[in-house]
Amino acid sequence: MKDQPPTTQPSTAQPSTSETIETEEPVPTDPTYVRYHPDIEQLDPKEEELIDRIVTTLKSNNERAYRTYQHGLRDAHAKGHGILEGSITVYPDLQPELAQGMFAQPGKYPVIARLSSTSGAIRHDRLRGVRGLGIKVLGVEGERAMVDDEATTQDFILVTHREFLFADVREYATRGMVVAWLLARVPDLLLGAGSELAATVDRLLVRFGRPLPPTLQVFIRPNTHILGDTFFSSAPFRWGDYVAKFLIAPLSDNVRALENVPLGQNPSENANREMIAEFFANNGADYELRVQLCTDLDTMPIENATLPWSEEASPHIPVAKIHFPKQDPASPTRRAFGDDVLSFNSWRGLEAHRPLGSINRMKLRVYEASSDFRHEKNGIERMEPADISDLPD
Ligand code: HEM
Repeated sequence: MKDQPPTTQPSTAQPSTSETIETEEPVPTDPTYVRYHPDIEQLDPKEEELIDRIVTTLKSNNERAYRTYQHGLRDAHAKGHGILEGSITVYPDLQPELAQGMFAQPGKYPVIARLSSTSGAIRHDRLRGVRGLGIKVLGVEGERAMVDDEATTQDFILVTHREFLFADVREYATRGMVVAWLLARVPDLLLGAGSELAATVDRLLVRFGRPLPPTLQVFIRPNTHILGDTFFSSAPFRWGDYVAKFLIAPLSDNVRALENVPLGQNPSENANREMIAEFFANNGADYELRVQLCTDLDTMPIENATLPWSEEASPHIPVAKIHFPKQDPASPTRRAFGDDVLSFNSWRGLEAHRPLGSINRMKLRVYEASSDFRHEKNGIERMEPADISDLPD
């Protein structure tokens, strides 16, 4: 588990702008990219049964949260920190293996983004942990990954940890459910004390070359400025004729300056929201979407989301720039729209960007169940924006 990607600078493999960018990593001269074929996924015969169990348990977490807040929340990433309007520009002259799906042609689309923290409870921002980024691209035409999906949105869903914590549905059904259960129930004070203690233990263990396991590392990750974070797909996706993971990293100097900037000793309860609102009151920012193509199914597996894909074998290459202009990302109407009306789901998108692997297959049912639950409880209709004017100011 690494907090930062090896490539936080734009890679030279595919210059993202007209500027000359210095070489950071050797790029393989002639990598053989793995071609997508349905057989690269291998279903566990017990998968559906395990997913049934997970959906049922998560629903009980959801019901519990509803009793506490008297409001239907997301079963994960319940606390939104900001809803941003922006645009994504696909770079021209991408190499053919990257010019796939919605990136096949250069172009510009509107986007809506939601920044969040991973818990299914609304927690104090002093707590460390995983942060999330949902990006919804509007007006993307093409064959859909989900049957009966008539939307024209393309969702990309990312978190601040590079590899996922659990390999597959089997592991999630045991260890993952324990984490989900704890995150739904343990009070802030205890969770905060637990992660401070774990961070101290980790510092001691590191001296003996035995840091805490990745499952615990995410809870001791230093609490830094969310706008300086890099977000990862964590699990693999179809990339048209190929297979990939991707990340979104700060690009403009003003957000790169926020990388690894600590939140300070005593952040306020909604520090993330306040920092995001304060930043975008006076600034715009650019981020970059970078794609890592799979070159070897043995060392870059589809069904085990915990194994790192080597940057040396296949570096992340820039494919698009995401721009967020100056705005108010935390107005009451925006927040209500982002938290209660919108749903982000990596299955909502093109077949050419179909989520792959066990963790992603599980998400197909889990996300729909969570979204249905909260919309029904709150008496609010789900909607997929067709136009950026659907997003209130
Ligand atoms: C590759 C792994 C994963 C990533 C990158 C990821 C990321 C995210 C993000 C960023 C959100 C918030 C989206 C929003 O703002 O609406 C979210 C929501 C959610 N996640 Fe995940 N997640 C992953 C795996 C999982 C797994 C394994 C589960 C459970 C089995 C899960 C359950 C949920 C649920 C229930 C929601 C809320 C859905 C809704 O009500 O709309 N996620 N996830």
